[in-house]
Amino acid sequence: MGRLNGKVAVITGAGRGIGKATAYLLAKEGAAVVVNDTDETVAAKSAKEIEASGGKTIYCVADIVNTKDADRLMDSAVEKFGGLNILVNCAGITRDAPIHKMTDQQWDMAIDVNLKGTFNCIRAAAKYMRKQGHNGRIINISSISGIRGAATQANYASAKGGIISLTKVVAHEWEQFGVTCNCVAYGPVDTRLTRAREDQDEEVAGEKLGIPLKTRKEMMERYAGRIMSPEDAAYPILFFAQDESWYITGNCLQAALGGFS
Ligand SMILES: NC(=O)c1ccc[n+]([C@@H]2O[C@H](COP(=O)([O-])OP(=O)(O)OC[C@H]3O[C@@H](n4cnc5c(N)ncnc54)[C@H](O)[C@@H]3O)[C@@H](O)[C@H]2O)c1
Repeated sequence: MGRLNGKVAVITGAGRGIGKATAYLLAKEGAAVVVNDTDETVAAKSAKEIEASGGKTIYCVADIVNTKDADRLMDSAVEKFGGLNILVNCAGITRDAPIHKMTDQQWDMAIDVNLKGTFNCIRAAAKYMRKQGHNGRIINISSISGIRGAATQANYASAKGGIISLTKVVAHEWEQFGVTCNCVAYGPVDTRLTRAREDQDEEVAGEKLGIPLKTRKEMMERYAGRIMSPEDAAYPILFFAQDESWYITGNCLQAALGGFS
């Protein structure tokens, strides 16, 4: 008997990294999951792997920055699985640069995908979740960068800080419907966002993702050679998603070693 039997979950950015591991874990716990990503190849692969392990899933290619896409994504869950109980806003991107060199495009992209995209999905879910006794769960993804700030991340830190505030607003507005809204602020997780830029061939919107090799080495030293895997990172999301967490809302859980703020 899984913890999420009978639930329907939408997970954005679930073609890779933390979103993918979360989709897999929630499906293993019995939820029917809608795997979202902008990249069809990875979304389809993620859904295939979930299916192969006995999970119920579909994938939906949608860009969460686009309002109509966000609406279509939530509709797809209801059309295919008959409801929408859990929304995990995991899609995110970095566009790092120091403030004096940050371009308008870099600022806009980080704010759009991380903050506006999260808002778009919550607003699109409103028509399904704002119902008496819904018992819904929204889990947003922030970062310790959004709490402490980080050099070269003015755009990303502002978006991730905004997500913490947005989480609290949703908690206030939707508590009356039994919907909780929490967020997880991760420290470094081993995904393409924290790999050495020099080791990545792929570009997203004309830029390599990741961090300089030197920063990667410093990070691994700081964390004594071990940072979270995407599978590790999925667990706090499951905690917030389960029915037993019905009285926990408006929180930002810091999932990070290395001190706290
Ligand atoms: N990796 C870390 O160290 C770390 C730390 C703190 C927070 N986070 C956050 O965790 C979340 C997941 O990051 P990750 O490290 O797994 O990254 P990732 O790049 O491995 O996965 C993110 C996925 O989101 C998808 N995506 C990007 N823009 C999208 C859009 N507009 N619509 C739909 N999908 C889109 C990408 O295609 C990708 O598959 C992000 O919000 C990120 O900011 C990551």
